[in-house]
Amino acid sequence: MGSHLRAMAFLILQTMIYLLMFMQMCVSQQVKNVTNGKTKCNLFQGKWVVDSTFPLYQSSRCPFIDDQFNCGARPDKLYLKYSWKPNSCNLKRFDGKRLLAKWQGKKIMFVGDSLSRNQWQSLACMIYASVPNAKTTVTNRGALSSIIFQEYGVTLFLYRTPYLVDIVQEKIGQVLKLDSIKQGDAWRGMDMLIFNTWHWWTHIGSSQGWDFIQYGSTIAKNMDRWDAFSKGLTTWARWVELNVNTTKTKVAFQGISPTHYSGKEWSSTSSNCLGEKQPLSGSSYPTGQPKEANIVKKVLSGMKKKVYLIDITTLSQLRTDAHPSTYSATKSGNDCSHWCLPGLPDTWNQLLYAAFT
Ligand SMILES: *[C@@H]1O[C@H](CO)[C@@H](O)[C@H](O)[C@H]1NC(C)=O
Ligand SMILES: *[C@@H]1O[C@H](CO)[C@@H](O)[C@H](O)[C@H]1NC(C)=O
Repeated sequence: MGSHLRAMAFLILQTMIYLLMFMQMCVSQQVKNVTNGKTKCNLFQGKWVVDSTFPLYQSSRCPFIDDQFNCGARPDKLYLKYSWKPNSCNLKRFDGKRLLAKWQGKKIMFVGDSLSRNQWQSLACMIYASVPNAKTTVTNRGALSSIIFQEYGVTLFLYRTPYLVDIVQEKIGQVLKLDSIKQGDAWRGMDMLIFNTWHWWTHIGSSQGWDFIQYGSTIAKNMDRWDAFSKGLTTWARWVELNVNTTKTKVAFQGISPTHYSGKEWSSTSSNCLGEKQPLSGSSYPTGQPKEANIVKKVLSGMKKKVYLIDITTLSQLRTDAHPSTYSATKSGNDCSHWCLPGLPDTWNQLLYAAFT
């Protein structure tokens, strides 16, 4: 009897394992298909190699970089010299002139938190380096900022929204609305949308963005952060399904950008990113991809419309050396969350370029 039960339990367990493996396969199928020209190649599996043609621009020659991302004063320079090498192909070289010709008259919008801002400024610098005499206009109006390359009619928008779903000031305080995206009206009419959210979902204490979280008619002081993130992201996915014509508007989700505040994750002698001067070798991060990255993959894999996952998590986890740490031009604190420009976000944009051109 006992052994019978054991056999049953074993069978059930085995079935579950197969099922899990199958689901995993489906997820990786779905997200693998960012192609590089004609070859199918997983651009997100690879390693960092020293490349003398990097960086792609100089911070002193780019007028769009915030002090926060400007590491011009950083004494060690090797971190600028790495390019991403996928295992089974080469990443397409970025060609700003070609991009401007191809995107003529188009509107590209980054939507998300300061990591979106990091990537938006990087792309503007990469383009500007190829046309250093171009006329540009920069505007800032509330949540919306833009950089226009006038002769080409190419506009790079940034819409700041830390959660993608709405956060609204009400009588009781700031309410994070997990099932509402009214602000999405500002994202219409674009040719490309690149979304990102995560970091603000983790904040606690005085840097927490909300007083209450609302889901349906339930209003709570707090809830499990991954659960909230998953619900909010699902609302975003539904918004895309209902509101974006992906024949006209290409949609990408920028994967989870990691932080490096815990040196023991990569067995470092320093307690965080401060003092790190080169990337980790190899192709995987000791602790693997975080739970939030799996939530992103799960939500995207359930979508009917085509959304490219720019799966930056692992390749960015390897760049313990690429944060401003104490060297940003703001000279405040130790930032192991954002990234120096030039630097890692330039690779995110190379990957975006590979997906969208
Ligand atoms: C990815 O590529 C495979 C093989 O070419 C194809 O069968 C699959 O439908 C593609 N998936 C997506 C989401 O485009
Ligand atoms: C989506 O956009 C394409 C290209 O502009 C257009 O032909 C098509 O009619 C649109 N579909 C819907 C449902 O609006």
